[in-house]
Amino acid sequence: MVYLKSCTHLYTILLAYSLFKILVLQDCEQSSRQVKCTHGQAAMVKICCIGSGYVGGPSMAVIALKCPAIEVAVVDVSRPRIDAWNSDRLPVLEPGLDAVVRACRGRNLSFSADVDRHVADADIVFVSVNTPTKARGLGAGRAADLAYWESAARVVAAASRSGKNKIVVEKSAVPVRTAEAMERMLLAHSGGGGATFQVLSNPEFFSEGTAVRDLLCPDRVLIGGRDTDAGRSAVRALRDVYAHWVPEDRIVTTSLCSAELSKLAANALLAQRVSSVNAISALCEATGADVSDVARAVGWDDRVGDGFLNAGVGFGGSSFQKDVLRLAYACECNGLPEAADYWRQVVAVNEYQKSRFVRRVVSSMFSTVAGKKVAVLGFAFKKGVGDTRESPAVDVCRGLLGDRAHVSVYDPAVSEKQIRRDTASPAAAKAQAHQQVLVARDAYEAAEGAHGLCVLTDWDEFRTLDYRRIFDGMQRPAFVFDGRGVVDVGKVREIGFVVYSVGKPLDPWLKGLPAVA
Ligand SMILES: NC(=O)c1ccc[n+]([C@@H]2O[C@H](COP(=O)([O-])OP(=O)(O)OC[C@H]3O[C@@H](n4cnc5c(N)ncnc54)[C@H](O)[C@@H]3O)[C@@H](O)[C@H]2O)c1
Repeated sequence: MVYLKSCTHLYTILLAYSLFKILVLQDCEQSSRQVKCTHGQAAMVKICCIGSGYVGGPSMAVIALKCPAIEVAVVDVSRPRIDAWNSDRLPVLEPGLDAVVRACRGRNLSFSADVDRHVADADIVFVSVNTPTKARGLGAGRAADLAYWESAARVVAAASRSGKNKIVVEKSAVPVRTAEAMERMLLAHSGGGGATFQVLSNPEFFSEGTAVRDLLCPDRVLIGGRDTDAGRSAVRALRDVYAHWVPEDRIVTTSLCSAELSKLAANALLAQRVSSVNAISALCEATGADVSDVARAVGWDDRVGDGFLNAGVGFGGSSFQKDVLRLAYACECNGLPEAADYWRQVVAVNEYQKSRFVRRVVSSMFSTVAGKKVAVLGFAFKKGVGDTRESPAVDVCRGLLGDRAHVSVYDPAVSEKQIRRDTASPAAAKAQAHQQVLVARDAYEAAEGAHGLCVLTDWDEFRTLDYRRIFDGMQRPAFVFDGRGVVDVGKVREIGFVVYSVGKPLDPWLKGLPAVA
């Protein structure tokens, strides 16, 4: 624990130092370094990234920061997003990102909606567009919707008319062998003496909320490419970009499809650990064991490790569920139904954990929440981000609203507009939905007059709230349902709350009640 704390501290110092070094000292040795282009000769490299989202924006900003001699243009079809990148309110909330963007924007970093021009100009084109799960048609709910990816690929293909050779870098998380499809499309367009292309896979492994830190000090950078002269040369060119700040031994090269599969496998294994500990949490509640003790005891084993063993209301974020389902779909398409079932179960346990939480709330409150106010603290899928994609809080709120509760939501980083958009139900009339959802300015306002309080994001500020003050403003009995293990169970129980914390021994009040409402 002490070790972990000092590591986090060290990282903070490292981030501060790293920014200082770059922003103030301007590393001369690095800035004078040049990157070799596809043809081998030293040249001023131009990078363009298609997609200015959570990945494209921060990852390109860090490349621009670390490689002052490289011109980086980030392009997007979304004009509002580009305008936001060019403003003081960036569209992505990440600690340290403002400083990085401010240091490079207008120097060697630009954001533009002129997609065609920048793609045509670039030597290296990163494709970092969204790849959501298909909502309908073949493979709906499992396969990747590659419509955005294809539209980006067509832009790159059309740019072949510029006659400039390009390295195309797949940064989006895509199904295995998507790079091959990209190669085929580019080949079809470049036939007849146009430009040549090399496609690489360079999946992004950063974690939202610590993106800048992770990009500055990555565990590894993975580059997949073809084992041909041109392929190896392209890999070297991209390696040279990262080598400006990433130690050589952390830059790993593989085949194209190994790199693509590694991204899906990494997310699937992380999600699987969360679902594993969450499945244990249900058994802990049934037996009286404490999931924190079990996770700690298990995590001490070097073979297991202690990461991603925090039980809670379930995983969220744009990637985990999507990538697990994509992996399962790949297994299915390759005639491996047992492997597909195994991975699908990871998502099934996550769904179970969310609905188990809602059922616990409803059954504890006398099996009805109709007309009762339930405060929801935290709406983002994890602390430090304003991202609500696949956030468990969305499903928990929808579950409670479905049982006709009034939810009062507070999140320090999510806007009222986003909360209303995520909780809107097609079934409920707009006016009714509006009435049932309140958005509060702080935790105390959210909890005022509430019957129950759910903690759904692990924001640090929820650990240090004045729970006595909250208790005084709530109805009796006052319930706390902690889905993130942030509340000191002993202390709030002493104040008078009836407490449920995922995977912890049950409050005497809850013991006699059915877990299923
Ligand atoms: N969010 C994460 O933490 C994370 C981490 C690693 C990898 N990934 C993967 O990276 C990819 C991008 O994720 P994101 O979170 O940045 O997505 P995002 O939705 O935040 O951003 C994607 C952007 O691409 C733009 N776009 C789509 N088609 C375009 C086109 N043809 N031309 C120009 N712009 C276009 C969209 O307007 C959008 O702004 C996804 O495949 C995702 O799975 C995400």
